[in-house]
Parts: sequence; structure tokens; C-alpha cells
Amino acid sequence: MKTKGIILAGGTGTRLYPITLGVSKQLLPIFDKPMIFYPLSVLMLAGIREIAIITTPQDQPQFQRLLGDGRQFGIEITWVEQPAPEGLAQAYVLCEDFLDGAPSAMILGDNLFFGHGLPELLKSAIQRQRGGTIFAYRVADPERYGVVRFEGNRATGLVEKPQVAPSRYAVTGLYFLDGDAPARARNIRPSARGELEITELLETYLAEDALDVQIMGRGFAWLDTGAHASLLDAGNFVRTLTERQGLQTGCPEEIAWQQGWIDDAQLAERIRLFSRTAYGDYLRQLLE
Ligand code: TTP
Repeated sequence: MKTKGIILAGGTGTRLYPITLGVSKQLLPIFDKPMIFYPLSVLMLAGIREIAIITTPQDQPQFQRLLGDGRQFGIEITWVEQPAPEGLAQAYVLCEDFLDGAPSAMILGDNLFFGHGLPELLKSAIQRQRGGTIFAYRVADPERYGVVRFEGNRATGLVEKPQVAPSRYAVTGLYFLDGDAPARARNIRPSARGELEITELLETYLAEDALDVQIMGRGFAWLDTGAHASLLDAGNFVRTLTERQGLQTGCPEEIAWQQGWIDDAQLAERIRLFSRTAYGDYLRQLLE
């Protein structure tokens, strides 16, 4: 079965208050694009065209205004509501019908990935038939994340926001799981903070030796955009890259066009829409 995609873009964004009192975090700008373009691009780079986007009920109309049904990117978007932020693993319960037994790639709507070889890394995770693949990334402050415990090179455990971190490797917000994920997620009980914890779901795979923990090396950037300073840092990172290289990162139109999911005429439509921006100029260059 083809791998389907999920973007988790609900949540409350309390660390970005007062900004996120009036607008969803995942609609905020990372330099020249809305945040959700970046995780969406990651799924598209993996070759995934059937994508569910999970939002709060109140934010959904705004996301729909931005993305519609996905045809401008040659993809098919299914809209799913999460009434309350009851945890990352709840995504699999909410998307059970959408997945319909298919394996999935789930990405958090506020995670930004960049690096040489990213498409290959993603595609190799999809090739794995059974179990799951997650990515561990070295960070200076592992206590803020789910952290991997290693014995030698082998991952033996995952700990959510530990007081004393068992390693410096945080679990990134990108999870490839097989078709069992919704059934497994349904069996998880809410944690003390009232959430279905993704670490618990992943541990069920780890316990069966069915979880591949891949190190995402230092040549990659994994940025979290959930707090004021990190949001600005991510924007500056994208601006620096884009202006230095003259290449876009997180540009769904470009990925869709490169993969042949949209034709020249469809790209030209977007170019017209963005005619007053550098983003539009960039797309025009592609056509020329
Ligand atoms: P978090 O950053 O953990 O939570 P948040 O976005 O609500 O922000 P804050 O901590 O400032 O209150 O969420 C990580 C990502 O997952 C983010 O993109 C929102 C999303 N999310 C959901 O969609 N549903 C959920 O139940 C949770 C917990 C998070």
C-alpha cells in the first residue's frame, strides 16, 4: 500500500502567546512562507500525494483558504479536526479512516527540516515494509524533547522530557509507521498531562524490535519554531539560505512541478498570483 501523509497542525501554541491567541501557529510566517509549507514540502519530497491535515475546528477555515484541496500542488488534501489538543498519538486515531490500513508519514506542523540528502533519507524510511522509522537529532537541550536511550548503537528506550537526559538525541517530529499505528494508538491511555503520548506509541514498536531509530546527522538542520526566539531564528535561517543560494526551501510549487504533479500552465497560474513577490520571480525562473 502507498504511504499516506499526516500533518499535525492543531495545538494551542501557548508558548507563542499573545501571537497565537488570534491565529494558528502553523500559519505564521517563516520568512516568506507560512510555516505549514515546510512540513508539507517534506512529505511531498518523500513522494507522498495523499495528505491529511489535522487542525483545530476554529482554525480550519483559514488553513483551507490557504491550501484548498491541494490541487495547485498536485496533491489531495483531506481535512481532519482535532477538537482538543490531546496528544500527538491522537493523530493516528483521528486519521484511522483516512489511512484505511496504509502506512503513514506523520510530521508536526511546526517542524522544519533542511539538509543534503533529505529526499533519500525519507524514501529509505518508506521502503521499510514493517514497523516504524524515526529520526534522532543531536541537540544542546535534550530535556525539552522525547529523548532516545542508547546501549552502544542500539536504541533501547524513549523518555519524554526527562529531567536527566539519557543521551543528547531528541526524537524529531517526523514518524514513519506501518498500518498498525491507529490500532496501537487506540490502546494508549492518556498520560498525567492528559495526552496520548507519541513516545508511548513508539515504545510499543521498540518493544517488538520493530522501530528503526536513524540518526539525522549534523549536516541536517532540524529547527523547532514553537517559541518567540526560535520562530525568528527559523525565519532568519530561511532568509539567509534563500538569499545566498537563490534557491527556495519549503516550496511546494517547485516540488510538485519537478515531480511532474503539476504542468507548466498550473505553475504559471501560481506565478501570476505571486507576481509581486520574489517567491513568484523564483517560480518564473523555473519555467524559463
Ligand atoms: P507543541 O509545540 O507540543 O504544542 P503547541 O503547538 O500547542 O504549543 P505550546 O507548547 O506552545 O502550547 O506541539 C507540537 C506540534 O504538534 C505543533 O505543530 C502542534 C501540534 N499538536 C497538535 O496538533 N495536537 C496536539 O494535541 C498537540 C499536543 C500538538
